[in-house]
Amino acid sequence: MTSRIPGFFKLDVPDRVVRIREIAGLTDEETQLLAASFGALEQDRADRMVENVVGVMGVPLGIAVNFLVNGRDYLIPMAIEEPSVIAAASNAARIMRDASHGGISAHYVSAMMIGQVQLVKLPDPVAAREAVLAARDAVLAEANAADPILVRLGGGARDLEARLLPETPAGPMLIVHLIVDTKDAMGANAVNTMAETVTPTLERLTGGQVRLRILSNLADRRVVQASVAIAEAHLGTDEFAGADVAERIVEAYAFAAADPYRAATHNKGIMNGMDAVALATGNDWRALEAGAHAYAARDGRYRPLSAWTRDGKGHLVGTLEMPVVLGLVGGATRTHPTAQLAVKVLGVQTAAEFGEVVAAVGLAQNFAALKALSTEGIQRGHMALHARNVAMSAGAEGEQVDRVAAQMVAERAINIARAKEILETLTA
Ligand code: MEV
Repeated sequence: MTSRIPGFFKLDVPDRVVRIREIAGLTDEETQLLAASFGALEQDRADRMVENVVGVMGVPLGIAVNFLVNGRDYLIPMAIEEPSVIAAASNAARIMRDASHGGISAHYVSAMMIGQVQLVKLPDPVAAREAVLAARDAVLAEANAADPILVRLGGGARDLEARLLPETPAGPMLIVHLIVDTKDAMGANAVNTMAETVTPTLERLTGGQVRLRILSNLADRRVVQASVAIAEAHLGTDEFAGADVAERIVEAYAFAAADPYRAATHNKGIMNGMDAVALATGNDWRALEAGAHAYAARDGRYRPLSAWTRDGKGHLVGTLEMPVVLGLVGGATRTHPTAQLAVKVLGVQTAAEFGEVVAAVGLAQNFAALKALSTEGIQRGHMALHARNVAMSAGAEGEQVDRVAAQMVAERAINIARAKEILETLTA
């Protein structure tokens, strides 16, 4: 199987579905589901997913092509309302597959979730900490007894930490961390259940009172590193030589490394790609966001999540390091039919493989943004796509959309009033 599909963007929607159907082996039912997804999530299903349902908010689902990660091809489902993100990811992935050996590499440095238990009103905070650490094995066994299925699958609570917060506005606190391998689940349910289960034991051991029991989104034990070395010769454009583009991308990174105002936008570009995959697959993209930004600021200063350097041997080298908390089982991934289909198209087998591919998407998305921003600027490509939205808002349909958009771009006048005028000339 290959994710390299030249001209995928030029196909009409039914032809794209045919291609994805062939590559991902979709059934008749799944193919019909894609067609039906232009309607809506069924009322009953939506009503069972969240509360107070009155409708469904549709977001376009696209497929980024060309991704080669750890030597394997992937089609990337992305749900996003912003134009040009999917095209940019596909272009970046094409450059990365052509200009590097094996495409993008990615691996988990560690893959554990952290559950926090807050203990207050401690008679002796230091003794409480020692008592919890001394009972480590018993507390872990109790936590594991709360989730025998996870344990059977090879996961479970692996370690325990006890952190003293001696001076908070509410007095001293002991924070117990359960370090949990949640396997293919995102992990929120498993970790929260374990944290609640050990409450009476922790109160008995410490003489204190348990308050909050919840996972931490600063998932610094579930961190992926992704990297790519791109031959600079492949970076050239009509206006810029490859080595020049490489230098400009390094300068763009240096800006983000030195300035939190830029780092926030740099990281937003990374999350454009990663959130879109999380949403398409029914994952909690807010958890991904929270982890990303907390990790970016983990040493007290907000920093870019990726870095770009030149290796002096003709390569531009990009690396990304951040928490990636995603699951393949549980949550909307299981209940939402389109999310299930997206997971099938993605073709990942484990949560680890999933996280690695999504980190690779983040790195590619970042590369695309920095390349455009540091050379021709983002607006040229962006406005061409934006023009299509404006044309549709003005009432253009079918072929009219591209014709109205193309004329507005040529005139450099992209607004609804002009779109309506052009549309009138077309329909006159
Ligand atoms: C826009 O959605 C994302 C960018 O601003 C990212 C960046 O500036 O690196 C283009």
